[in-house]
Amino acid sequence: MTHRIAVIPGDGIGGEVVPAAVEVLEALELGLEFVEGEAGDYVQQERGDALPQETYDLAAEADATLFGAAGETAADVILPLREAVGSFANVRPARAYPGVDAVKPETDIVFVRENTEGVYAGIEDDLTDDVTTLTRVITGSASRRIAEYGFEYAEENGFSDVTVAHKANVMRKTDGRFLSACEAVASEEEYEYDEALMDALAMHLILHPEEYGVVICPNLAGDMLSDLAAGLVGGLGLLPSANVGPDNALFEPVHGSAPDIAGEGVANPTATLLSAAMLLDHLEFEDEAARVRDAVTTVLADGPQTPDLGGNGTTGDVTEAVLDAL
Ligand code: NAI
Ligand code: MG
Repeated sequence: MTHRIAVIPGDGIGGEVVPAAVEVLEALELGLEFVEGEAGDYVQQERGDALPQETYDLAAEADATLFGAAGETAADVILPLREAVGSFANVRPARAYPGVDAVKPETDIVFVRENTEGVYAGIEDDLTDDVTTLTRVITGSASRRIAEYGFEYAEENGFSDVTVAHKANVMRKTDGRFLSACEAVASEEEYEYDEALMDALAMHLILHPEEYGVVICPNLAGDMLSDLAAGLVGGLGLLPSANVGPDNALFEPVHGSAPDIAGEGVANPTATLLSAAMLLDHLEFEDEAARVRDAVTTVLADGPQTPDLGGNGTTGDVTEAVLDAL
């Protein structure tokens, strides 16, 4: 069966790192079909719409999507694209690699973040000249869904430590519901886990990242804690992510369009290559996914490295080295 992959490079370095990842995917000769879509600031300027309907449809109908980054229009592009693929889980692995200078080289944590509700549900109101409110939405069904996904992810990927982040001592009803959904799933399926108050967890993650495996989080907590962990492993050029739904998914580096280095050919393609490996896993090409990860790991250790990691290699040098290592 041929898999159809929507490829949406977007702005800035998206146009440099996404083609690098497509080159690596093509080298695996899996017969994947790549269809390119337009989105981002440049499309907004040319056509008055950062995410044309045809790009939304392309992602909705593809078997998987590889996205780069958008610039100022990021929210107008990525939020609808996550919705187009029906994603409810944002999976963000933060792993340190040999050869890369990391604050905490023992870090190997995967954040499984609910990404449809919580404080990002978009319900804000100006009540008076002085008072603005935000409504935090937590449903039992979405909480159950992310708990099931997180526990299964941990089991399938060999993580023994699962932590549920919450703040149910203060947000008693909303995080109370989130926590009881996680408890219910764990008790039905006999999963073991710890729970942690999200503020204290932020400190513990920095001091003892080695004590954590999979962290299941409500939306905002997952956004913040995963960025915090990015700081532990060597920066944004390394962090991949997946937005997963019941039968479709979108893969993207965590970083943005990096206008400060765009066009110089020095963007680190690692985050996007690792996102492509997650895409291969999603399509059940597990062996090929492992090959890409191994090749990337080899090149991170042996070089060449891009300037963000202290080297003087280009995006092309790193990509070629990964192709050789494959
Ligand atoms: P950014 O992630 O684009 O860049 C932050 C810093 O990290 C910059 O110094 C950049 O050069 C460096 N960096 C990022 N990725 C790198 C890579 N692969 N290799 C080497 N260095 C890398 O975040 P920033 O500067 O806050 O935002 C720039 C633009 O990107 C903004 O317009 C923002 O709206 C957009 N953005 C888009 C996102 C998305 O499409 N998902 C996510 C975050 C930001
Ligand atoms: Mg963020």
